[in-house]
Amino acid sequence: MSMNLVTLLYLIASVCFIQALKGLSHPTTSIRGNVFGMTGMTIAVLTTAALIAKLAGSPLGLSWVLVGLLVGGSAGAIMAQRVEMTKMPELVAFMHSMIGLAAVFIAVAAVAEPGALLHGLAKGDPIPAGNRLELFLGAAIGAITFSGSVIAFGKLSGKSKFRLFQGTPVQFGGQHLLNLVLGLATVGLGLAFMATESWGAFFGMLALAFVLGVLIIIPIGGADMPVVVSMLNSYSGWAAAGIGFSLNNSMLIIAGSLVGSSGAILSYIMCKAMNRSFINVILGGFGGDATTVSASGQVQRAVKSGSADDAAFILGNAETVVIVPGYGLAVARAQHAVKELAEKLTEKGITVKYAIHPVAGRMPGHMNVLLAEAEVPYDQVFEMEDINGEFGQTDVAIILGANDVVNPAALQKGSPIYGMPILEAYKAKTVIVNKRSMAAGYAGLDNELFYLDKTMMVFGDAKKVVEEMVKAVE
Ligand code: TAP
Repeated sequence: MSMNLVTLLYLIASVCFIQALKGLSHPTTSIRGNVFGMTGMTIAVLTTAALIAKLAGSPLGLSWVLVGLLVGGSAGAIMAQRVEMTKMPELVAFMHSMIGLAAVFIAVAAVAEPGALLHGLAKGDPIPAGNRLELFLGAAIGAITFSGSVIAFGKLSGKSKFRLFQGTPVQFGGQHLLNLVLGLATVGLGLAFMATESWGAFFGMLALAFVLGVLIIIPIGGADMPVVVSMLNSYSGWAAAGIGFSLNNSMLIIAGSLVGSSGAILSYIMCKAMNRSFINVILGGFGGDATTVSASGQVQRAVKSGSADDAAFILGNAETVVIVPGYGLAVARAQHAVKELAEKLTEKGITVKYAIHPVAGRMPGHMNVLLAEAEVPYDQVFEMEDINGEFGQTDVAIILGANDVVNPAALQKGSPIYGMPILEAYKAKTVIVNKRSMAAGYAGLDNELFYLDKTMMVFGDAKKVVEEMVKAVE
């Protein structure tokens, strides 16, 4: 395989990746985007495998590549098939940790055998200054991404008894100062490696970067983990791009830069949708704040509650209904039942719309994916800014497994979520809320919407309740 052909194939793969990102920006084009992504990745992986086989020049070299492809490919396929939609952020965190570790391994290999891995070097040649910088940056960012992603994975899964892996922030005095000192020491050792090419400085820098990854993530609460995962996504892209420069691999540079920049943009969009600054997320410890209210620790207040039949009666008498899906809908896998309910209401001549909050659920686009899975028509699905003006004229807003995204506390100064844009469901003439209990949402806050006179709570698992509503509407 000639280098010109490799460059051409990498260029085609890069165009596919750009088309993939473009396609994934809207539900109607997302399948096309995925096909582009898969095509680009197949071209990139096969081209790289062929290139390595050629460079290795022996069947043993090729067999190592094939074993890697087989083991990694099968593990990825099995995990992707088994993962639940609500567990997707954990899977993404796990993938990022692997990318970070891969960057570290490649950097270690390149420092050990520069002649074999770095472009234009013969055996025994010293590593040029530019390459040393790339290896230092790629390895340091890779190590931070690895250990940070492992902590994020633990916090998201919430299963470990080990304190560092729990959702509540781990904070102590002088933490930010310690992180600053460690960060400066990591840079110092990286510069020492650049000056001397010493293994001691390189491994010292790596060890500090691993510790720094842990220390940066532990003070962040579970509530902010999706933003952190997106940020680590960005880091993993930059680590890959850094290593791509060292290996003179244009595919790694382009793909790494695309991941790095799209991850950074996504983190920014998520922060904006929660009215948080990036710095506030990184330093905030949000999600374990003692001032937030957990349902278990609060005085019971009276709410109006009804059955699924009561809710169906109210819905059947409405002219306009807006459905607000949230995280609980995804947990209950009630999307198909909701679509059926909407169809039954539409058959009765009722106008039904869905209102999507940008951070409803646990990952960007979570609700769009959920509704698309149930084949809800896209023209019934509205983004927050497009539907908020309509709640005032809506007969019934039915909130299914959503909490924070409709919490009017966001309008009150002093609230931990003050300023977060919300779906203005409280303006509807009647509000129906389905959830299993009076437990708080992700931000751990009580929700005044549940106590309004015009609100009726329907307690129970979303799927069961909505199926009962469908029967009652029939
Ligand atoms: P949440 O505020 O987390 O509320 C979900 C509600 O669903 C809970 O109050 C829960 O109450 C209920 N629930 C859980 N399982 C249920 C089931 N089987 N049936 C019915 N109800 C069920 O969800 P949201 O309104 O979608 O808000 C998302 C939150 O995640 C926001 O705080 C947002 O900032 C945060 N977040 C999101 C993202 C992205 S990108 N989506 C990123 C970072 C943070 P019960 O336990 O009483 O049932």
